[in-house]
Amino acid sequence: MADWQRTFTCGALRHDQVGQTVTLNGWVNSRRAYNQQIFVDLRDRHGVTQVVFEADPAVSTALFETAESVGREWCLSVQGEVRRRLPGKENPDLATGAVEVVARHIEVLNRCPTPPFEVTEFPGEELAGEDVRLQYRYLDLRRPSLQKSLLLRNRLNQTIRSFLDERSFVEVETPLLGRSTPEGARDYLVPSRVHPGAWYALPQSPQLYKQLLMVAGFDRYYQIARCLRDEDLRADRQPEFTQLDIEMSFVDQDDILKMIEELAVVVFRACLGIELPTPFHRLGYDEAMLRYGSDKPDLRYGLEIVDVTDWAGNSGFKVFQEAVASGQVVRAINAKQAAGRFSNTELKPGGKLSEVVTRAGGKGLAWLKVEEGKYSGGIEKFFNAGAVDALGACLGAVPGDLLLLVADVPDRAAELLGGLRVHLAAQLGLVPADNHLFRPLWVVDFPSFMRDSEEGRWVANHHPFTAPRVEDIPRLESDTAQVKARAYDLVINGYECGGGSIRIHDPVVQERLFAVLGMPTEQAHEKFGFLLDALKMGAPPHGGIALGIDRWAMILSGTSNIRDVIAFPKNQRARDLMTGAPAPVDLRQLKELGL
Ligand code: AMO
Repeated sequence: MADWQRTFTCGALRHDQVGQTVTLNGWVNSRRAYNQQIFVDLRDRHGVTQVVFEADPAVSTALFETAESVGREWCLSVQGEVRRRLPGKENPDLATGAVEVVARHIEVLNRCPTPPFEVTEFPGEELAGEDVRLQYRYLDLRRPSLQKSLLLRNRLNQTIRSFLDERSFVEVETPLLGRSTPEGARDYLVPSRVHPGAWYALPQSPQLYKQLLMVAGFDRYYQIARCLRDEDLRADRQPEFTQLDIEMSFVDQDDILKMIEELAVVVFRACLGIELPTPFHRLGYDEAMLRYGSDKPDLRYGLEIVDVTDWAGNSGFKVFQEAVASGQVVRAINAKQAAGRFSNTELKPGGKLSEVVTRAGGKGLAWLKVEEGKYSGGIEKFFNAGAVDALGACLGAVPGDLLLLVADVPDRAAELLGGLRVHLAAQLGLVPADNHLFRPLWVVDFPSFMRDSEEGRWVANHHPFTAPRVEDIPRLESDTAQVKARAYDLVINGYECGGGSIRIHDPVVQERLFAVLGMPTEQAHEKFGFLLDALKMGAPPHGGIALGIDRWAMILSGTSNIRDVIAFPKNQRARDLMTGAPAPVDLRQLKELGL
């Protein structure tokens, strides 16, 4: 063992070690001089320990001089004696705060120029800009809060692995270089050098491989799998992300949901010490869209949407009556006790709240403030006698409430009010700042198909391997819009944290489904012949799910930024600011690839 190697980590020392000579390795968190002494806070991923250098000529002036020269983020080895801190000098915020190390020897393992940003975190202080932190990610990763997130992610992965291992799941790796699997996003393509003009696609998910593993008889598969999708990025999306991918044979929807609920309970217990109540709430897709305007509603707060179309059609208010007559709906939110929180200017056309709706494509926002014995908002005078009271009664309005109404076609009304609901919750502070309220739910009974608005054809809502409800199979072609899927999404606090389905295991149904999606038999065979062949060879009934590991890690660590739980993430424009990827390549490389 080299004499600079540590005997303890920077988070380990307590009273028990007082009097011992120890060696610590770590980075300079801070250095300050006081009263002929230099205090260096030495940090590693386990914690921080205070090291004291005393200007004692009996010890060594070289030691003191070296300590004077060190800067932030230098990498050091320090040897010294552990002593109790003087009474009143203890630091209760540090696990090691009862002791300090009086240095006897220092070795500079490596220097560091003045760092481009402050690694040490101070409560309440804003972090440096994210771009510079992403550029020097290895420094940013020294920050205790990022380290905590990655350690939590490690706990999450380990908990998942042991849970699934105990239940006879087999971890199988599937190829990265493969054929495109349609999951709704664009593929990342890789040119083949050996077969000029032909391309691999990086997997959007291991969907087809896991189904083929069921055909192969593996029964219970999982993989913590990297998936790649070339799609527009958001705060909870990355171009490469990680799924816990699961598939099971001889199961039904309830078996999968129950097992994932058990897994969630174990994960929340292991990572946060929280007991999640089960079974999770279940909500049909149609009801979710109606009541929350979203298929991933945040149930931590109310602000439910109420359909008041019947009332609006007879309300006397021309704008609403004409909207209803043209097939539109009118839906409302009662923002409890929010009348005083928004000024009339914010609510009027062009105002901040009204713009939340118009910017999202709505025509406008109607509003009424509920006061003692009357309503105000400017539109109250347009209604039939008693109509506003009837609305108030329907929405359970009491003085101080703010009623917000939108008229539009059903899908857009849902979307507009869903967006307004989320905005209101943030404005009204209804989302608890602490990290301890979790409201998981299953959204079920999705429509199998959606109309692609640009191309006017049917597209699969989940993916084309999702089984329709058994009773809907006869009307796949004749009543496509009404066909419901045996699919389910797991939603926690407004995030889609997982999604899956029971799969089609009958090759004839699979071919019919491809045909509904506009893929004639020949084309289906050309693209997915291997799957159709496999389904013919004794494929068992099977189903599965994939959980978004990054999103789980976000929720568990209480961040709304997916980059906080990924060691080396891409920025919002899909760039790795540290390595500079994507970057141009040599002409020679392109030539070799026949490009
Ligand atoms: P799906 O496409 O719903 O299903 O993906 C499953 C889960 O993965 C997460 N997720 C993402 N996380 C971060 N960044 C992204 N770009 C991203 N895209 C998806 C979400 C989502 O719920 N093969 C199916 C699963 C199955 O049917 O078993 C699939 O991939 O949390």
